[in-house]
Amino acid sequence: MTPKQARLVALVNPPTSQYAANWSNPLSRSDWLRGTFYADLGRLLERGRFDMVFLADALAVPEDADGEIATTLRTGGKGAIYLDPIVGLSHIAAATTHLGLGATVSTTFQHPFTIARSLLSLDQLSGGRVAWNIVTSTTDAEARNHGLPAIPDKAARYDRADEVVQAVIDLWEGWEPDALRLDPIAGVFADPVRVRRAPRRGGDLPYAPGPLAMPRSPQNRPVLMQAGASPRGLEFAARWAEVVFATGGSPEAHRTQRAALKERCRQLGRDPESLLYLPAIQPVLGSSASDARRRLASLEEALDPDAVLVALGRLLHARPHELDPDAPAVPLIEAHRGATGSDGFERSMLHAAESESLTVRGLAFRQALSQFNLQPVGTPAAVADELEHLLDSGAADGFVVMPALYLSSFDDVVNGLVPELQRRERLREEYEHATLRGNLA
Ligand SMILES: Cc1cc2nc3c(=O)[nH]c(=O)nc-3n(C[C@H](O)[C@H](O)[C@H](O)COP(=O)(O)O)c2cc1C
Repeated sequence: MTPKQARLVALVNPPTSQYAANWSNPLSRSDWLRGTFYADLGRLLERGRFDMVFLADALAVPEDADGEIATTLRTGGKGAIYLDPIVGLSHIAAATTHLGLGATVSTTFQHPFTIARSLLSLDQLSGGRVAWNIVTSTTDAEARNHGLPAIPDKAARYDRADEVVQAVIDLWEGWEPDALRLDPIAGVFADPVRVRRAPRRGGDLPYAPGPLAMPRSPQNRPVLMQAGASPRGLEFAARWAEVVFATGGSPEAHRTQRAALKERCRQLGRDPESLLYLPAIQPVLGSSASDARRRLASLEEALDPDAVLVALGRLLHARPHELDPDAPAVPLIEAHRGATGSDGFERSMLHAAESESLTVRGLAFRQALSQFNLQPVGTPAAVADELEHLLDSGAADGFVVMPALYLSSFDDVVNGLVPELQRRERLREEYEHATLRGNLA
């Protein structure tokens, strides 16, 4: 029997990555505001036969507890820079032929017509390689940038997200697959009978009748992905997501969550196989076990102890004087429940704090190092052993690789881990299909 193959997705949000000191590390590239960075990144990941790269996004520079942005800017904190993902991905699309292109786009502010149009445009130009990472935005700063006084509550955001996704799909599917005829002999460009307006579905959104001035995608429609982890977020995922990426937690927690999501898919009448569950990993690879441990230690040593505490305070919306580095971390997390806006993230934080009995300082370092994600450390063979175990024990259908350093950590993965996984028949040697949906299947 062929072993279960891993789906591989790369999460990229330069210059910070999931490792806070990426931008200041001499091994990291600093041309992340140039198209060449994205083109090189895409070519590297395609050489490693990744299914997809996806770009994170936020719609405001993150603020601290006093509403200031200075902390984020001075420390190069996550969110200090975000290019529009669709623009960044268009550079990657032009440099690659098979790599999937995941764009984070929030459902909370934009009209579905705009979302449908820009994602489908990139999907057309890339030959059917786009995924939409559906997020609901979490901060008041993002709301204010869109004319709202504060972010709506989570239930309202997910209700709106359900409506937006449905409206976007309606627009994407307005043209039947064979509606574009291009038949000069019959004198027919497109068959109007095969192009329809979106159905009226009621709800709170302004109705966008469409159709889009664009035929259906070569992959039928862009792939839907999602990372919400609250009960409402998981319900949303079970309804819509074809790719779920999950953070933090133990292998056991991933196993339980993956099984629950697949079961909920079944209850909703979806094929559970149509949902891929991908835990995030931050592998640290080395030529020997001790070399890998040394690399991990050097990543940790490069973190500034004051900056990591400031970053934790910002994340939890705690004022710096509230942080006692030597106090246990759990009460601090509990006192600031809801501050990050993400249940998944808070659960990861709590899991790490409890299972490792972390102090506030320890929590700050773990957050700055890997954001609490699984962090296999060792030779490519040892890391591949761990990943095989996650695949075979029902904890994963593949992985979201969150590297520490751009692009050198991806180099390590593509040159070391990828050939190891291919030798074990855990990763494709060649892309099987031209479209992202085809390759993910
Ligand atoms: C691993 C991970 C990555 C995320 N990336 C983004 C992002 O790039 N932009 C964003 O606005 N939200 C992002 N989110 C937020 C979620 O997509 C979601 O909207 C939020 O977590 C609230 O839902 P929840 O409480 O159900 O998790 C991310 C969440 C997780 C867990």
